[in-house]
Amino acid sequence: MSKIRIAVLCSGGGTNLQAILEAQAAGKIPHGEVVLVIADSKEAYSLERAKTFGVETAVFDKREFSRAEREREMLACLKAHRAELVVLAGFLTVLSPSFVEAYKNRILNIHPALLPSFGGEGMYGLHVHEAVLSRGVKVTGATVHIVTEECDNGPILAQRAVRVRKDDTPRSLQQRVMREAEWKIYYRAIEAYCKTLQK
Ligand code: GRF
Repeated sequence: MSKIRIAVLCSGGGTNLQAILEAQAAGKIPHGEVVLVIADSKEAYSLERAKTFGVETAVFDKREFSRAEREREMLACLKAHRAELVVLAGFLTVLSPSFVEAYKNRILNIHPALLPSFGGEGMYGLHVHEAVLSRGVKVTGATVHIVTEECDNGPILAQRAVRVRKDDTPRSLQQRVMREAEWKIYYRAIEAYCKTLQK
């Protein structure tokens, strides 16, 4: 059976993309294949990472397109590459309901906390870890979920917990959540999801 064609959408550094591409290169995503990386900024380092792995890239820069135009172009690009699954990896724009509808149950996201805590509008990047620390929770982590119209509220596919340390700063916590949770669970969840899509 042919592999599920995956497109990864990124805005920045792309360490999750890197973990996915390394897993793929090591044969750990046998039911899927990343065929395209889309960034919404020309400067996104994710583009370099994709090129290193020989994956095609496309850019729809936020500064050059309105959100509606960008989504239209992205959908056309996804279609042209016959993408069957869209993976958000640090993609900083919330997708419109019509985009989500076009790939219903075929968009995955990773969130750097244990949803449903510390999710929703404005909860991205360091804001999440700041909120975790100021609330005083002792355990945080990462969540992979299916994207629905409601931000961070779709069905949960995978989670991993990470202990909060007394001396954590938002940045130290962010790094540990990535290292101990995000980079480990995302490719596994993607592989498991591709396997179910093939059935
Ligand atoms: C990660 O913390 C991810 O959970 C969130 O955005 C960050 C992206 O980091 N959605 P990177 O670009 O993968 O390094």
